[in-house]
Amino acid sequence: MIIAVDGPAASGKGTIAKALARHYGLPHLDTGLLYRAVGIAVLRSGGDPSDEGDAFRACDFDSALLSDPGLKSEAAGRAASIVSAHPSVRAALLELQRDFVRQPGGAVLDGRDIGTVIAPEAPAKLFVTASSEVRAQRRFDELKGMGLNVVYDHVLSDIRARDARDSGRGIAPLKQADDAVLLDTSTLDVAAATARAIEIVEQTKVGSEA
Ligand code: DC
Repeated sequence: MIIAVDGPAASGKGTIAKALARHYGLPHLDTGLLYRAVGIAVLRSGGDPSDEGDAFRACDFDSALLSDPGLKSEAAGRAASIVSAHPSVRAALLELQRDFVRQPGGAVLDGRDIGTVIAPEAPAKLFVTASSEVRAQRRFDELKGMGLNVVYDHVLSDIRARDARDSGRGIAPLKQADDAVLLDTSTLDVAAATARAIEIVEQTKVGSEA
């Protein structure tokens, strides 16, 4: 079974995708990490994420970069959001993601365009969201927990800027697929959000078997 999980930053989509993968015994790919790796590779080489040539050259990154702790930083997230708007970058990362989808038995992928572009054939699609204030609070708590000195208002404006960039780009924008089920996690804890996600997948299975 292929499960597509899309949504904006800090919506809980990664946590939900991991939990679904565990529940169904499927491999999981966090596609945001690919864009983050490109973003970090550009920054480390002294390039400019908004320059398409610099970003495209960085798509050739060493796979060891995918486990670099620097990928989780805000700088990497911002650079990822910028490089991901370049068509040549998206094209360079496409086959790797499609190959992951085509594994026997299926897979769980999370990102921005899984249900719309990478795996439009997925029988189970979730669009995970939450209010920007709740998402900013989650990211703020996470960064504080890492010992970083952050200001909530800055985190909120960063989240809003990222939403605008990811939803407003011309290619594969962040958008709920017509056949995706909306899961708003604003008032749900991890256990409740996971339970609801499993329920949605189970209903999809019943629907596709009918
Ligand atoms: O999910 P994330 O925060 O790790 O993603 C970082 C950025 O990568 C996000 O702001 C936009 C981009 N991205 C994308 O364009 N398409 C995806 N499938 C996943 C991420």
